[in-house]
Amino acid sequence: MFPSLTLLLLLAGSIGGQNPAVQVVLSNKGLQYGSHVGAGWIQDKLNNVTIPDVSGKISLGIFGNINYQLSGFQIVKCDFPEPSVEFFQPQPGITTSILGLSIALTGEFSANYGFIKIGGSLQVALFNVDVTSLMDLGKDDDGHLSVSSNNCMASIEALDVRVHGGSSWITQFIIDQAKWWIKTKIEKSICVGVEDLTADLECHLKTMNVSLKVNENLLLEVPLTRPPVIDASSLNLGLKGEFLSLISPHEPPFQAQNFTMGPQPAFMLSVGLSDFTVNSASYSLFSDGLLQTNITDSMIPPASPVHLNTSYMGSFIPQLPVMFPGLMMALHVHAREFPAFIFQTSAIKLTILGAVKAFVIQPNSTLTPVFTVHADSAFSGKTWIADQSLKGSVVMDNFTLTLADTQIGTFKTDPLESLSKFALKSFVLVKLNEKLAQGFDLPRWKQARLSNTVLKMEAGFIGISTDAAVQLQDAAHGLHP
Ligand SMILES: *[C@@H]1O[C@H](CO)[C@@H](O)[C@H](O)[C@H]1NC(C)=O
Ligand SMILES: *[C@@H]1O[C@H](CO)[C@@H](O)[C@H](O)[C@H]1NC(C)=O
Ligand SMILES: *[C@@H]1O[C@H](CO)[C@@H](O)[C@H](O)[C@H]1NC(C)=O
Ligand SMILES: *[C@@H]1O[C@H](CO)[C@@H](O)[C@H](O)[C@H]1NC(C)=O
Ligand SMILES: *[C@@H]1O[C@H](CO)[C@@H](O)[C@H](O)[C@H]1NC(C)=O
Ligand SMILES: *[C@@H]1O[C@H](CO)[C@@H](O)[C@H](O)[C@H]1NC(C)=O
Ligand SMILES: *[C@@H]1O[C@H](CO)[C@@H](O)[C@H](O)[C@H]1NC(C)=O
Repeated sequence: MFPSLTLLLLLAGSIGGQNPAVQVVLSNKGLQYGSHVGAGWIQDKLNNVTIPDVSGKISLGIFGNINYQLSGFQIVKCDFPEPSVEFFQPQPGITTSILGLSIALTGEFSANYGFIKIGGSLQVALFNVDVTSLMDLGKDDDGHLSVSSNNCMASIEALDVRVHGGSSWITQFIIDQAKWWIKTKIEKSICVGVEDLTADLECHLKTMNVSLKVNENLLLEVPLTRPPVIDASSLNLGLKGEFLSLISPHEPPFQAQNFTMGPQPAFMLSVGLSDFTVNSASYSLFSDGLLQTNITDSMIPPASPVHLNTSYMGSFIPQLPVMFPGLMMALHVHAREFPAFIFQTSAIKLTILGAVKAFVIQPNSTLTPVFTVHADSAFSGKTWIADQSLKGSVVMDNFTLTLADTQIGTFKTDPLESLSKFALKSFVLVKLNEKLAQGFDLPRWKQARLSNTVLKMEAGFIGISTDAAVQLQDAAHGLHP
């Protein structure tokens, strides 16, 4: 039973290209929330935006030119409507339209025509400004998500300019002439602004690490394995999701299986994590020889009825205290194979093929090997999220102990097997289940907090769906959209 489970895992998914082991799905609800937060951020930024000065000249033919300058613009009011955002198919993209934006500005105005100089203050109102833009999504060669501005259109339906001061008919004449030009210039600069924002975002995405150092042993690789996949209601990112050893990096002898996440429109974000990811960590730790430990009597609580000495072990292995009377013992425990996880709809199955090598500790501290047993165990676990904590429970399905090697002659392993089973069930699993029942808090960040998080065990993967509350640097926005 035990070896066949591992074999099944090794063979499964060994055909085909590289499937993503982690999938991140942004739903329409998430997109709308993101857009709401982004709009708030832009509204805040707009209050501080600096508008470049405008200068130009109006040609009066043989009568020369009027030179003018509009400067010192400040936004006094901006009604920024909620943008409308949609996933764009089939090429992956996101369209944004902002319809009916209006902005009121103040500024200074000066002009000269020959030796005539005029000047005054300006009030500019832009009505029904419409901006639509399409942002393309893709994947670069290093597996970063990439964004680019594909199409941007901005139109201003009406522009109203009032001037105070100066010689008003000549001023009005200049303004009337310059109006169209100002309108075109602003329309263009809106799209330049959109392109700049997109370029900033692209820059930010390019510098993101697709290899995260987990600890001194493991690296988590999360580049995109394929371009984003989009439909009318969601955006799906497929990530490699593989742990690699930092000591001796090499690919595991098994591959991620394809899995399909069902739509979760009620949640902003869903993440699917396949058993491949967990197994790649298990494989790396095993390959680097990290899945081993030594047990000595000093690690066993004094009150325990079980002790690592030859007289106690004599009740299971009669010849041991005869050959080595009154000596303490030590155990070397290691995995013979990488512990294999299989995710199912009803449970997470874990198979551990282990070996225990027993030693007696001679009075001169030399370790003398006495026997080796194979200890194979199978566990079933469940995991769920409650009160924003990850919780779980584990039961032992099977445990067998067989004699693999002996320096002291053969002995029956059944009594030792029963003892080990009892010790695992009544001490190790009880402690573990207490910890799992308490749970582990879900991660929190300064700028984002998860809410309504649920976890579902599925065949081949675990799906986590959640809402989030995001707080961008200077904007404060509510918990729920
Ligand atoms: C436990 O494992 C042994 C050895 O692999 C197998 O023969 C036995 O059927 C298993 N028992 C259960 C309940 O799965
Ligand atoms: C806006 O500008 C003021 C003063 O120049 C500065 O203190 C403030 O932090 C800026 N706010 C934003 C949102 O950039
Ligand atoms: C990215 O990874 C490199 C190398 O592991 C590390 O030096 C750097 O600090 C990381 N950058 C970020 C933003 O995490
Ligand atoms: C994985 O599944 C998707 C959708 O079900 C399918 O389009 C794709 O071809 C599959 N990939 C492989 C390598 O089987
Ligand atoms: C366990 O003991 C053996 C033999 O003394 C030693 O080689 C090994 O490094 C030890 N392993 C650990 C994990 O302490
Ligand atoms: C060996 O273990 C038994 C039972 O746990 C204990 O009573 C005894 O004191 C131990 N002997 C030594 C030498 O530690
Ligand atoms: C330690 O004692 C054992 C048993 O008495 C003996 O076989 C071994 O050679 C000794 N080792 C050393 C290094 O003295």
